[in-house]
Amino acid sequence: MTIGILKETIKSEKRVSISPKIAKFLIDQGFDIIVQDGAGNSSKFSNEDYADAGAKIEKRGVVYKNSDVLVKINPFDEDELKLVDDHHILICQLFHKSHPEIVKLIAEKGASIFSMDALPRISRAQDMDVLSSQSNLAGYKAVIKGAYEMTKIFPLMMTAAGTITPSRVLIYGVGVAGLQAIATAKRLGAIVEATDIRLETKEQAESLGASFITVEGNGQESEKGYAKAASEEYARKQKEAVNKSLFKADLVITTAMVPGRKSPVLITEEQVKQMKNGAVIIDLAAAQGGNCELSKMNKTVLKNGVKIIGTTIAPESVSTNASDLYAKNMSNFITYLTENNEFKWDLEDEITDETLIVKDGVIRKN
Ligand code: NAI
Repeated sequence: MTIGILKETIKSEKRVSISPKIAKFLIDQGFDIIVQDGAGNSSKFSNEDYADAGAKIEKRGVVYKNSDVLVKINPFDEDELKLVDDHHILICQLFHKSHPEIVKLIAEKGASIFSMDALPRISRAQDMDVLSSQSNLAGYKAVIKGAYEMTKIFPLMMTAAGTITPSRVLIYGVGVAGLQAIATAKRLGAIVEATDIRLETKEQAESLGASFITVEGNGQESEKGYAKAASEEYARKQKEAVNKSLFKADLVITTAMVPGRKSPVLITEEQVKQMKNGAVIIDLAAAQGGNCELSKMNKTVLKNGVKIIGTTIAPESVSTNASDLYAKNMSNFITYLTENNEFKWDLEDEITDETLIVKDGVIRKN
């Protein structure tokens, strides 16, 4: 079976779905690999790196024509789908609920598509979970960006010229990104506090050295590892519990999301007005509306001396690591779905069932 690695078509995307190291691993497993010319350039993987791994380098049209499986990170666009036919098996992050028109086009082609973002959050799917591997990097980079935007340093520093007190960092949402943000800020010497609606995160936050801010009503049950939307009562109590820390914080990183919904507003304009002059908010939930009322996606808003930065910290900003991790997730996924280099199509299996959006032109998930 031949796997084709495509170059991403979105201009800002710097990642590639399979790195040379993973290409070599898959070749050793008996797969053939064709790479689109220059696919790895922005991740600093050259054509030669892929060729050394045993892959063939070809122009785009040849990759489509000669591959059974086509792999990408972002959804296939209309232009790309013109080159797809009924023998193709596509794998990418499709976000099928947001792209019904693409799902329809794939079905019209008679092709099949697996979507990596639809993986169930179960233990045996952990090593294939691209949302986790990429969020983890975002959590790290959010702290680095915060450090860059702040006018203070993180650690306690005793010098002949005086003592610098450590910065205070507050993290909203102790999921994958939040946990990595705690670990990174802690390593840099900050005093770190965190809060989450899921009480199960208290122990995880504390094990990384953060103080957990418990809100009365914490522990609302999570659905498949995700949070449920909070009640108004909870939101009010959360503000009361967290305000003391918020108003002392130098850096606030918000990562709180509820799948399929707008992000909860956890910091209002009124609260921002009471924050420290010079404080920075990095709102990683900005793409879904933001956890801070004032956030604007890809913009920096200044309010009463507080800098509010709305961003997703796209993993492409650390494209080499992000591609490496995505590639490992992808190869674990392909290895899981196949036997003797053939797809098993085990529709009784939860991972196959949840991720297989279209099979041979039939839409399975809307
Ligand atoms: P996410 O990106 O959906 O949300 C981030 C965090 O925000 C979550 O911890 C959530 O509880 C929190 N949050 C939501 N609403 C909030 C509110 N109103 N106030 C405070 N916090 C709020 O979640 P993420 O990071 O993608 O994963 C969440 C959890 O799922 C992980 O910590 C892990 O336990 C589990 N998971 C399991 C996997 C597996 O078993 N394969 C893979 C990945 C995650």
